[in-house]
Amino acid sequence: MIGRLENNNSIVVAAHRGLKCDYPENTLLAFQKAMESKVDMLELDLRLSKDGVVMVIHDETLERTTNGSGKVMDHTLAELKQLDAGGWFDPVFEGLKIPTFEELCSLIASYPEMLLNVEIKPSPHAKWVVDKAVAMLDEFGYLPRCVFTSFDAVIIAYIHDTYQLKTQGFPAELMHNFDSGPEGTYSKMWAVGISMKLLTPKLVQEFQDKDILPWCYCPDVDQQVYYALGCGSTLMTCNNPRPAQEIRYVI
Ligand code: G3P
Ligand code: CA
Repeated sequence: MIGRLENNNSIVVAAHRGLKCDYPENTLLAFQKAMESKVDMLELDLRLSKDGVVMVIHDETLERTTNGSGKVMDHTLAELKQLDAGGWFDPVFEGLKIPTFEELCSLIASYPEMLLNVEIKPSPHAKWVVDKAVAMLDEFGYLPRCVFTSFDAVIIAYIHDTYQLKTQGFPAELMHNFDSGPEGTYSKMWAVGISMKLLTPKLVQEFQDKDILPWCYCPDVDQQVYYALGCGSTLMTCNNPRPAQEIRYVI
């Protein structure tokens, strides 16, 4: 299923951490609303709790998106589930929790076409997160609709070499261990995430010449969507998916 992105000549829209423009990022509500809004893909971030449960949360620490403090990996599942993950965004969302990856997998069961961009956040346990996430996705039957993202060349190589799954990396200068890690990182990347700050037609062409799909983040207004298309990037991860979704129907 994910392979269809290789031949897609229309815009493919991923909701960055769920529908984060309107709802608290990486919560089940943000993912549910993104799916209801008919995006093609959910993008999400994974980290491990102290007791080895895969959690959906972006930051290494809890302060920005919860009412807790300290590192995610220093808290057990029970402790993390005590925290509020919605009130920081708007008091109306108080009571939302940090989801486990298993809860997210259950949520998307009724959307069989929904694609997933699963980002493994850097940590000493990142390979363990990969193993657990792959096992979970396999159990749910979702692996054919997944691409795995990492800013770490070691993790890109691990996912590619161990599981033969599709990966999204980033330009070398943004990656950890690109020069010191495994050789040939670009050859293990199926797609490359390019921020709007770096996106140019030349950079897109450079990656296309390497047979790596260009995938921009985050075109959130009409002008950025048209610019991305002009550069040759039809894969888009958006904080606000609506402009890309609307433009998809007029071009
Ligand atoms: O896929 C691109 C994007 O998710 C990477 O940045 O910080 O949102 O994880 P970040
Ligand atoms: Ca991410």
